Amino acid sequence: MNNLFVDLPTAHKIAALCGTPTFVYSEKALNETAAAVLAFPNAYGLTVRYAMKASSNAAILKTFRRLGIQIDASTGHEVHRAMRAGIPAIHICLSTQELPADFAALLDLGITINACSLSQLEKIGRARPGSKVGVRFNPGTGSGGTKKTNTGGPASSFGIWHEQLPDVQKLVAAHRLNVFKIHTHIGSGSDPEVWVKVSTLSLNLVRQFPTVTHLDLGGGYKVARMPHEKTTDLQLIGAPVKQLFQDFARETGRQIHLEIEPGTYLVANTCCLLTTIQDKVDTGTDGYRFLKIDAGMTELCRPSLYGSQHPMAVLQQTPSAGNEPYIVVGHCCESGDMLTPAAGEPETLEPRTLAKAQIGDYLVIGGAGAYCSSMSTKNYNSFPEAPEVLLKTDGSVALIRRRQTLDQVLENEVAL
Ligand code: LLP
Repeated sequence: MNNLFVDLPTAHKIAALCGTPTFVYSEKALNETAAAVLAFPNAYGLTVRYAMKASSNAAILKTFRRLGIQIDASTGHEVHRAMRAGIPAIHICLSTQELPADFAALLDLGITINACSLSQLEKIGRARPGSKVGVRFNPGTGSGGTKKTNTGGPASSFGIWHEQLPDVQKLVAAHRLNVFKIHTHIGSGSDPEVWVKVSTLSLNLVRQFPTVTHLDLGGGYKVARMPHEKTTDLQLIGAPVKQLFQDFARETGRQIHLEIEPGTYLVANTCCLLTTIQDKVDTGTDGYRFLKIDAGMTELCRPSLYGSQHPMAVLQQTPSAGNEPYIVVGHCCESGDMLTPAAGEPETLEPRTLAKAQIGDYLVIGGAGAYCSSMSTKNYNSFPEAPEVLLKTDGSVALIRRRQTLDQVLENEVAL
């Protein structure tokens, strides 16, 4: 997949429509990733949920809904946002660190909840005894692209520690809960080998609950944003998982429905951030050449946070030959607002070789679909939230979020 899909004519069209910086999603790419995920190997049925925290615009939620994908929400706010986008409550499953105050009303509307702690399970049991519930376990092992995205193992607070199974069973009995689903999510950027291990551990948990019909293995499928990185082959990791489900059915007579909830895989490479180079400085012959763009951690903070790598291309207004090494920095008054760190080292500058750039050229940043627009230092330095557009399969450009105005930035301030 070409994840730097914005060319010069398209950039001009978008800049004329809503300026830069702008998030540019590709409908074609969204269709393609959805098809790949919906083909995940399974023995007895599959539900794909989009982890909407990755990018939450209603246009994206609706696109996935049309394609048959349901929703993984991680807060009550996301549940309401999805419902406002027209997603039926029965298509929404909530796994959250913070149970919303209206969780019982949401259950009555038809959403499902995966209890992520003993106290959540107890609250659900007290509020709605006898109800259907999922239980999220921390299976004891984790994996993640970075330490900050590992959500399994003893150093992670996510889910109920697997050894607390007897406590879960006590609460379930006390409140006559119907545990119909086991949920695990061990981290983002997980390695393929761990899927078999986690599926085995998760099926062992299913064994402990005769009422369970569904197993949700979470998300976390690794995606290559840079040319040297490798995207998870879903067919490859799914095949042994399917086999484990079949073995389980042979042994227990129980045919378990599989759920997965990718965020990154579905959107990471479906979006580019279109920016304009607004300044160029250098720090002498032993120093660096810097490109300053009109975006930064206010749109894309993954490099500053994780040292994550995003592909970039200069779109020259006037063609000129040759490449140069640049450090690309954002527009915030913050030395950490840097978009070309060394891999995994947010503080280390690593020059990127790009086509010779001039002030006024565009810089396109790829792999900007997951945890960029939805996870930014929005409004820092009072920069307005950037717009989002969808490049439709018919070639047209649809504005799906306007640029914020200063009035909107200030909207909730109360004058003294
Ligand atoms: N399910 C649960 C319960 C999750 O917590 C997450 C992500 C997902 C599914 C989706 O994981 P994915 O397929 O997107 O890896 N900000 C980080 C990723 C944090 C993920 C948080 N939970 C990043 O920029 O890579």
